Amino acid sequence: MKVDLLLGLQWGDEGKGKIVDVLTKNYEVVARFQGGPNAGHTLIFENQKHVLHTIPSGIFHKDAKNIIGNGVVIDPVILNAELDKLNKYNIDFKKTLFISRKAHLILPTHRLLDAASEAMKGKLKIGSTLKGIGPTYMDKTGRNGFRVGDLELEDWKEKFEKLTQKHLKLLAFYKVDLSYDLELLKNEFFKSVEVLKTLTFIDSEEYFFNALNNQQSILAEGAQGSLLDVDFGTYPFVTSSTTTAAGACTGLGVAPNKIGDVFGIFKAYTTRVGSGPFPTELFDKDGETMGKVGCEFGATTGRPRRCGWLDLVALKYAVIINGATQLMMMKADVLSGFKTIKACTSYIYKGKEIAHLPYSILKEDVTPVYTDFKGWPDDLTKLTSASQLPEALMEYIAYIEEFVGVPIKIVSVGPDRKQTILR
Ligand code: GDP
Ligand code: IMO
Ligand code: MG
Repeated sequence: MKVDLLLGLQWGDEGKGKIVDVLTKNYEVVARFQGGPNAGHTLIFENQKHVLHTIPSGIFHKDAKNIIGNGVVIDPVILNAELDKLNKYNIDFKKTLFISRKAHLILPTHRLLDAASEAMKGKLKIGSTLKGIGPTYMDKTGRNGFRVGDLELEDWKEKFEKLTQKHLKLLAFYKVDLSYDLELLKNEFFKSVEVLKTLTFIDSEEYFFNALNNQQSILAEGAQGSLLDVDFGTYPFVTSSTTTAAGACTGLGVAPNKIGDVFGIFKAYTTRVGSGPFPTELFDKDGETMGKVGCEFGATTGRPRRCGWLDLVALKYAVIINGATQLMMMKADVLSGFKTIKACTSYIYKGKEIAHLPYSILKEDVTPVYTDFKGWPDDLTKLTSASQLPEALMEYIAYIEEFVGVPIKIVSVGPDRKQTILR
């Protein structure tokens, strides 16, 4: 048995939550391996919308085990709020939600440090979700972090206090005016930790080793997207984890030769939330329409997402880096009604036409070159089979498959679980 991966190929919000929920019926275990509550994964079924931040998107399937791997950073306060929201579903979390002891915790002061760092950057700010992600991963790699397993130690509060005090000194260095009530934040944290401690802690590497030996099927759920990867994304406008396929190995404790299929998920167009370069970004009516029809607002922060045409140069880059074996195209329904659809198929970079992603894709360095496609007027949201897809959409799909060299196996035509077409 191998672990299949599902990963975002763009700047996040591709629809990972929806598809993990759809695929969970084929898996016994669903696992998050990186990121934290900066993620917002939306699931819609039976007229109910759910947004998950830390909990894997398999949680609504009562037979599935959901694992939060060692590569994830957990804010107990946010996790507690997520659990609260799910209360009415009578999910037995003790039996279905397992947490790696090696996962790092986001402390209240990590969030403050995130806010201070962004404030100091001024115009150059990353546009972080301000969930404390960067500072927590900095403490992890700096070997100062606080892990879930530490909560099993007698003196964990001393360790917490020591790290908090260190953070307060760092905050003073930032010289930005943040108003906060530390006692309140700490109390909220301690209360949430008590809830966290009611869940099952595991050694995830051992869990996956045994699960694979016992022939269990496992799906790993990525967060963010490949262009937000700390190494291969649009640095420094990225997140602080490895969002690409390799991150699943280190974030779960699974060897590279145990990775099976890699499902790459992308929107039929592109969105980005936060700062950073975005060559195909639109500032016109077309971009506005995508935002409006696609309801493009961040699931975590509510910020409007920037919208633009599909960037096939960037998509191919992501496909290669992840070794994607199958693709899933989301939100095809949002493009219905556009007379012409465009996709970027090369860049002009330093006066030359290139077909790969260069070191910088800033506006001043690259100009996208577009290929035009015929649009389709049809409403796709009620379609149920691939044979019903309009011809113009099939041509768009065929071009993308040829360009990136990987087949598109799912076309999503609406946010609901049911609006999913298999090919
Ligand atoms: P994730 O972070 O990758 O899980 O994606 P988000 O949940 O942040 O953003 C995807 C948004 O698009 C959510 O609001 C989904 O409900 C919605 N969505 C997903 N698939 C489709 C689709 O095929 N069509 C439309 N119109 N909306 C979709
Ligand atoms: P999901 O899993 C979209 C973006 C932020 C910011 C940058 C760094 O829902 O796809 P961070 O909070 O990590 O310090 O922010 O990354 N970002 C996301 N954008 N979807 C996400 O997650 C994101 N998580 C972080 O907007 O630009
Ligand atoms: Mg999201």
